[in-house]
Amino acid sequence: MKILGIESSCDETAAAVYTGEGLRSNVIASQTIHRTFGGVVPELASRAHQQSIMEVTRQALDEAGLQPDDLDAIAVTNGPGLMGALLVGLCFAKGLAMSLGKPLIGVNHIDAHIYANFIESRPAYPFISLIVSGGHTRLVLVKGFMDHELLGDTRDDAAGEAFDKTAKILGLPYPGGPVMDARAREGDPDFVKFPRALLSEGYEFSFSGLKTSVLYHVEGVPEAGRATYLQEHTNDLCASVSQAITDVLTRKTRRALKAYGVGDLVLAGGVSANSMLRAKMQALGVEMGVTVHIPKPVYCTDNAAMIAVTGYFHALDGHFDDIATLEPFAST
Ligand code: KG4
Ligand code: ZN
Repeated sequence: MKILGIESSCDETAAAVYTGEGLRSNVIASQTIHRTFGGVVPELASRAHQQSIMEVTRQALDEAGLQPDDLDAIAVTNGPGLMGALLVGLCFAKGLAMSLGKPLIGVNHIDAHIYANFIESRPAYPFISLIVSGGHTRLVLVKGFMDHELLGDTRDDAAGEAFDKTAKILGLPYPGGPVMDARAREGDPDFVKFPRALLSEGYEFSFSGLKTSVLYHVEGVPEAGRATYLQEHTNDLCASVSQAITDVLTRKTRRALKAYGVGDLVLAGGVSANSMLRAKMQALGVEMGVTVHIPKPVYCTDNAAMIAVTGYFHALDGHFDDIATLEPFAST
């Protein structure tokens, strides 16, 4: 079965082909225009998707060595995400499906982050999944394909948002997560003990206090010496922020693993590309005797390979969507 996946929910225009035997292509066009604005500008994202979606899809088919007619189905992200951005991918996929006479499969972007782990391995159900992206931070018990029990969510900022917003306070460029990761590797994670919220409570997260605490810390340095302080200690601050975020994520994940006694842990979403988090989760796996699955960094951040592989499992289940009625949705 040959599935074309299309992704356009935020600032990555992507297309990929997955077959039962593996991934055949994975093309990603990252929009750089948003850097100037320090965040994603929805209108610009939609326009950029529209400009590149055709070429990205053509390239994904070429690299897979396929003609459009060879496809068995087209899978596309229909939410959550930016409405205008989603509409570009969805309308393009609908047009393609209709003209080729192929079935269409709507894929939930957050769920697809989980199934990105199935591109190169096969986690055993039931497993615990920690989803950490720019918009979500969730612990989920996954009992089977698309059989999910939400254990806890964030009450405010997502983990990726916490990285991006604190990076902005430290004067680092957007997107802050990857930059902070690189700087943190050169810093002292115990330089400042930033707050870890809701540690003793269940599976819910809160990261907005961390951002405020970093802001107060920086503003607490007398203005005359602030630039020098930041020059000397940005790496240490990045390491301390990363330590605070990853400590909370590790602690809550340990709690879920203990409570549900599963044998597999699955990391998902852009923040699972973070080196400190990857190291802590691997160590947690050893401590708990659990197999840890973390996608390659390129499958952690937004991509269409995860949409194609999720579409593949939907197709195996015989689950297809109606071209006329499949709708985009902005949030979960
Ligand atoms: O999953 P994703 O690509 O998009 C969403 O669905 O949100 O996640 C993007 C988030 C951004 O907040 C970005 O800063 C963060 O993932 N991120 C990282 C790293 N790479 C991406 N955060 C920390 N360390 C990284 N290496
Ligand atoms: Zn994502």
